[in-house]
Amino acid sequence: MSKTNITSRIPGFHSMSVEARIARLAELTDLDEAAIAQLSNTGNLEVETADRMIENVVGTMNIPVGVATNLIVDGREILVPMATEESSVVAAVCNAAKQCRSAGGIATSSSGPLMIAQVQLLGVSDPENARFKILERREEIKAICDETDPVLLKFGGGFRDLEVRVLETDDGPMVITHLIVDTGDAMGANAVNSMAEAVGPRIEAWTGGRVLLRILSNLADRRLVRARGVWKLENIGGAEVRDGMLSAFRFADADPYRAATHNKGIMNGVTAVVMASGNDTRAIEAGAHAFAARSGRYRSLTRWEGDAEGNLVGLLEMPMAVGLVGGATKIHPTAQTALKIMGVSKADELARVIAAVGLAQNFAALKVLATTGVQKGHMSLHAKNIAAMAGALGEEVELVAAKLKEMGKVRVDIAERLLAELRGGKA
Ligand code: MEV
Repeated sequence: MSKTNITSRIPGFHSMSVEARIARLAELTDLDEAAIAQLSNTGNLEVETADRMIENVVGTMNIPVGVATNLIVDGREILVPMATEESSVVAAVCNAAKQCRSAGGIATSSSGPLMIAQVQLLGVSDPENARFKILERREEIKAICDETDPVLLKFGGGFRDLEVRVLETDDGPMVITHLIVDTGDAMGANAVNSMAEAVGPRIEAWTGGRVLLRILSNLADRRLVRARGVWKLENIGGAEVRDGMLSAFRFADADPYRAATHNKGIMNGVTAVVMASGNDTRAIEAGAHAFAARSGRYRSLTRWEGDAEGNLVGLLEMPMAVGLVGGATKIHPTAQTALKIMGVSKADELARVIAAVGLAQNFAALKVLATTGVQKGHMSLHAKNIAAMAGALGEEVELVAAKLKEMGKVRVDIAERLLAELRGGKA
């Protein structure tokens, strides 16, 4: 039973050691020894490292890392670690990748690592005039931005372009400046946010207005990746399968209710690699969905066509703001190992591999949905989880899972009954 006298006010909690925090938490929420031991075991992330990464740390959360096999990206055989809690995701990529190997795998390209920082200007009665005044200061703005991050400059990055828009809002017109910055191998949030903050006061001085927000945009549409794959008709099961998959794509492209699920499937692959590489999954998710809605309607991130030979062609284009320097990518030892497995040494290479996985994931989902339906494959892996949830141990897991599949009913209550019967039989 939970305590009624719990307080969420814990003075000094943030400055305690992790051990002391766990003890305090245990006291407040009645955690037993097993729960304390669970929190105290931080697995493959040193407790000191975890404690430096975020505030009020009391533990870590392990998620399985699986390796996607069979992928060829830009002619290179590559093994891709994926961190996900969802069964079928890794297997789906392996399957999809296998079916396009004979056509050469997946080809990728990118627009380069340009990030956008926004500076919001309020309180100008002549917004169009203000817009021009800011645009006239391009060289000064470039100098301010580049001075803000000399390290980025040294590695070939820095200010690239300036855009100023007058935005009509419920509060009247706002003048929005976009600083467009090559952030190289960094995701770039820190770099561009610092630049926006440095430019802010100057924009106020030039225009007489008031600068409010200075922050990057996660709609990173200057940092696009593209993946293209051809699946030969004979490898996917023929024209009927292809046509079903094309119809599934057109459904997603025409209907936001379907597009949300279709794109979620793409993100199953994308987010898993982003996570394994220690990058910011929310930044990628936000960018993906905003990009999917750029026409004013939420649509599919992929496009699918039949080529002249009748083969199925899949295309994915989406923002991919990932980095290799800074953040958890550098700090988390598993992320470093993941990068080593992939053999990527540039952020752009990583971004392209992620796009390839996203496309393969979408292929797998469309194929299963247009043929057997999702439950068959899903349930076979799911059955083992359900068996374990019902308390099955060791070889019981396989036995109960097999029986659940055979019955076509993958439910915990049935698993419990089967387990009891199994144990009864053994006794
Ligand atoms: C499940 O996580 C993902 C799918 O729903 C994707 C899709 O419907 O395209 C299978």
